[in-house]
Amino acid sequence: MLLELSPDQLLTTTRAVRRRLDFDRPVPRAIVEECLNLALQAPNGSNQQTWQWVLVDDPEVRTAVAQLYAASMAQHLEELQSAASTIPKIDYSDEGNARLTASVNYLLENMHRVPVLVIPTFAGRPDGARPFLQASMWGSILPAVWSFMLALRSRGLGSAWTTIHLHKEREMAELLGVPFERRTQAGLFPVAYTLGTDFKPARRRPVQEVVHWNCWSRK
Ligand SMILES: Cc1cc2nc3c(=O)[nH]c(=O)nc-3n(C[C@H](O)[C@H](O)[C@H](O)COP(=O)(O)O)c2cc1C
Repeated sequence: MLLELSPDQLLTTTRAVRRRLDFDRPVPRAIVEECLNLALQAPNGSNQQTWQWVLVDDPEVRTAVAQLYAASMAQHLEELQSAASTIPKIDYSDEGNARLTASVNYLLENMHRVPVLVIPTFAGRPDGARPFLQASMWGSILPAVWSFMLALRSRGLGSAWTTIHLHKEREMAELLGVPFERRTQAGLFPVAYTLGTDFKPARRRPVQEVVHWNCWSRK
């Protein structure tokens, strides 16, 4: 069933859903495929459509995926502690960041309970590639992923963009039988019905703070 949302409402209320994922309501495969079918209309480089999507609904595989996600998070936090880390530091004294961390941890602890876990992949490896190639590779999957999230939202489901498991991308590839040397995983997307469907626009930086008309030095 489609929610009654205008295009603007859809764009402004498709949130990262973690605490409001319904772990107990089964998600039919057909609805995931319906959303993917819409997502596959997304732009992609030279229309090569190298995307392949791994959909996990087997409880045992979900548990194994969740364990790798948790191990990756542990590695992530360890790396953050290191002075040499290039991962941007987060200010945990900020109330919003603290709330976000609690929400991230909730998903972490419950990942195995999420009915469907989606891992989009694309052909090739961007490691060390020049920006043109990197942009072409990532740009040929990320629009489809966002379309997928919008399609979920329009049907009363939700997801959260996650990349943490990519610290252990090779191990995930082994677990799921993805050919790591030839294929890159774009993230891990938990899919569930949402508890309620009322989501609000988030607070973002005002547009005036982030635009530069004609020249970087001008607003
Ligand atoms: C590139 C990227 C990586 C992200 N990685 C994670 C992640 O590993 N785990 C997680 O729980 N959320 C992750 N998020 C979700 C963000 O925390 C979320 O999009 C952001 O806080 C804004 O949330 P909102 O749209 O609900 O306001 C990621 C989002 C993006 C775009």
